[in-house]
Amino acid sequence: MSAEEARVHAAWLPPEAFRALGSRRVLVHGDGMLVDTVLDEVARACARYGGRVWHSPSWDVDADLVLALRGADELSSAAVEAARAAGEAALAKVGAGAVLGDEGFVLARAGDVTAVLADAPAGLLYGLFHLVRLGPAAFDSTRPTERHRPALRQRMLNHWDNVAVHPVMGQVERGYAGGSIFWRDGRPRGDLARVREYARLLAACGINAISVNNVNVARTEARLLTNRLGDVAEIADVLRPYGIRVHLSVTFAAPVVLGGLPTADPADEAVRAWWAATTRQVYERIPDFGGYVVKADSEGQPGPFTYGRDHADGANLLADALAPHGGVVHWRAFVYNHHQDWRDRSTDRARAAYDHFVPLDGRFRANVVLQVKFGPVDFQVREPVSPVLAAMPATRLAVEVQVTQEYTGQQRHVCHLGPWWSEVLRFAPWGPGGRTVADVAAGEGGGLVAVANVGDDLFWTGHPLAQANLYTVGRLAWDPRLDPRAVLDEWIALTFPPSAMADPELVGRTLHEIMDDSWRTYERYTAPLGVGFMVHPGDHYGPDVDGYEYTRWGTYHFADRDGVGVDRSRASGTGFAGQYPPYWSQVYESPERCPDELLLFFHHVPYGHVLHSGSTVIQHIYDTHFAGVEEVAAMRGRWRTLKGLIDPAVYERVEQRLDEQVRSATEWRDQINTYFFRKSGVPDARGRRIH
Ligand code: GCU
Repeated sequence: MSAEEARVHAAWLPPEAFRALGSRRVLVHGDGMLVDTVLDEVARACARYGGRVWHSPSWDVDADLVLALRGADELSSAAVEAARAAGEAALAKVGAGAVLGDEGFVLARAGDVTAVLADAPAGLLYGLFHLVRLGPAAFDSTRPTERHRPALRQRMLNHWDNVAVHPVMGQVERGYAGGSIFWRDGRPRGDLARVREYARLLAACGINAISVNNVNVARTEARLLTNRLGDVAEIADVLRPYGIRVHLSVTFAAPVVLGGLPTADPADEAVRAWWAATTRQVYERIPDFGGYVVKADSEGQPGPFTYGRDHADGANLLADALAPHGGVVHWRAFVYNHHQDWRDRSTDRARAAYDHFVPLDGRFRANVVLQVKFGPVDFQVREPVSPVLAAMPATRLAVEVQVTQEYTGQQRHVCHLGPWWSEVLRFAPWGPGGRTVADVAAGEGGGLVAVANVGDDLFWTGHPLAQANLYTVGRLAWDPRLDPRAVLDEWIALTFPPSAMADPELVGRTLHEIMDDSWRTYERYTAPLGVGFMVHPGDHYGPDVDGYEYTRWGTYHFADRDGVGVDRSRASGTGFAGQYPPYWSQVYESPERCPDELLLFFHHVPYGHVLHSGSTVIQHIYDTHFAGVEEVAAMRGRWRTLKGLIDPAVYERVEQRLDEQVRSATEWRDQINTYFFRKSGVPDARGRRIH
């Protein structure tokens, strides 16, 4: 191991997190590649903490922990069989339909033994990491029986990593954690040990799929599908033992740019044959290949529109090539006109995904997953939930979120996104009490897809606290009903193990105080009441209120001397509010009923408009911006109380980033407040300094 590797932060799997498990007598029973992974994990923990491990022994042993496949042979050990029987009994009690499936597991206590049973090796691996999370509590005699199965089938990360350095976007598009862990300057990095560590971390939070290249597929990256497939196969080999399948972003123009065909038209027989043959070769090399991710007819990427075909024609072309091998195509719904004229008030980017895709419901093949950004615009700190998620009952849907913090502070700011994603997943598009976004994603073969935030940085994510976002997205994909605070507790206990802390209570409390509300804090000092894109164009960092207002990418606030906001009502605006089922359509249509935090997303209102909170719009802007900066300053103060109590390298990195967050939040506050003061002429009711 090189010195650099030795310094790579262990994130949520430090050796200490395995102490409880590693000091036990552990029996693993069953066979398969992922069972070997479990054995390897247990063996390493036991070597460090004095425990013992057996693999399917033919003699009698006394164990504290049994991890077994249900289908494995009987063993001669009475204690082990008792544990297995207890697991079976527990499962029978859960009742009919108590199938564990290929990723689930059951945990039960039998006398002094903790038993984890699974139907398939992946279930055993997830069971193992569940034990790690539980720590000593996994061995409590009163531990109740638990059955776990993932709610969502596709729990995926999309890496926007370029193989060759892009002249504008660099090695990783919207990457804020250094270079790529997969690629460097046009070649594989060759650091497969690091990729292996990554796979472990991902398995421990429940991720089971990764795409390894950017959705914007340039020339070098296109070739991963054909003559550079070996590079992908190497990564797949390292991910496989952790239950993670590799996916590739492909260009729709591949038959032309790689195959030399004159067209990529989905109706052309030669094109269909090219995709079928190319895909067959992929599976010869990578038998468990997951499938393709496609950004088509979007922001300059090629797509079916060139040939007068629609997105169902395009997606089905690739789906047909993948179907014989069990692969899926993740087809992105992020399609909009990025050549708008700001003078044209009828074009509304928020409407675009619905307008393009909803008419196609029912036409997609069973192995097409339509990947829909959670909001109708673009990963803003606040948006309504995309209406597409409620409008395509005959299509497999995955919700796309952005773990990389493009619009939420770029991993220089603490912005813990768990509460936001949880709010999105719990949102009931048909009205309170109805089915939720999580229910939609949990439907047949749907999922949660997240744009990854990891790079070759020693802390993986640039900002050490941004690791929690990655951990959380995996856990919410496994179980969207989890309370984000409880997930943060898990992350804290793993990353800062209480057994290795002088004052674990203070560390835990302080991290909660800093992180729990940090997304709302970020919202307060940046764009108010659902307005988006007040960011610096291009890099999307820092304030620039009018940066996008007169560009071809869309117009987002329409502020004038009288008021601010985008009229998306049916009555007088773009009609976007009408894309929701009746309950929310009516709520959003009405400036009186619309929730405060989305008011300016749906309505253009006077600065004096009174919010549900009792404040006027303009006073709300001033108050939240002052409060946001104060909260960031308080965060920094809280962090300083941890000096000397945690790893100094983590401490220093976070401290530096908090300095930048204070500076940047102050800049946001001053620019936003000054802008709206100058537009409106309305002074701050509390007489604070506005420039
Ligand atoms: C955003 C982002 C782009 C990215 C795009 C996408 O617009 O700024 O860099 O390519 O989303 O999701 O495809």
